[in-house]
Amino acid sequence: MLEMVVLASGRGSNFIAIQEAIAAGDVPGEIRAVISDKPAAPVLDRARDLGIPALAIDAKAYDNRAAYDAALLEAILEVGCDIVVLAGYMKIIGRDFLQALDRPVVNIHPSLLPAFPGLDAQGQAVAYGVRVSGCTVHFVDESLDGGPIIAQRVVPVYADDTADSLSARILVQEHDLYPAVLKAIAEDRVRCEGRKVTVEEEMGGIQ
Ligand code: GRF
Repeated sequence: MLEMVVLASGRGSNFIAIQEAIAAGDVPGEIRAVISDKPAAPVLDRARDLGIPALAIDAKAYDNRAAYDAALLEAILEVGCDIVVLAGYMKIIGRDFLQALDRPVVNIHPSLLPAFPGLDAQGQAVAYGVRVSGCTVHFVDESLDGGPIIAQRVVPVYADDTADSLSARILVQEHDLYPAVLKAIAEDRVRCEGRKVTVEEEMGGIQ
């Protein structure tokens, strides 16, 4: 049983997809809490509606990044979890934080990394003129969207796509891929050696 803490800053559609997969019995796990750096983030209400503890740690209320990180770390450790799942969490995770946390952190990014890291990956893809994009689930290290890749899904990019239309197409894959990866982790089928991640058994898409 994989115990997770979800960190999210926004609407929380990936959180919902993960929680639905757990409720359906597809992922042997439990979301022990959702924590957001933004008190007004819709994801907090969505979590409360589902009876999942939801906590805001307002990044703006802290004097500096180290103080915020310390509060976040304390909250995660108090809740307790095997893994931290980033789902639209808009802050960079630092090396000290990762070291102190001392458990895996995973993230989903709406591009085929290492293409288009950072903000507005879908807009970057449309502006660049690529013909395919997609999403990536990866382990988090201290780099920006640069940790070892666990799995990717590919979607086409059409000539008349906007950032919004591409985002919607990618999101469908995100909602399928993230639970599939968490299921594989929960079933102890994921190994990471350096940058090389291997996943036993097919989970759809490209691993
Ligand atoms: C997703 O596109 C995800 O890939 C990115 O942020 C967005 C979060 O969406 N990291 P949601 O809050 O899960 O709906």
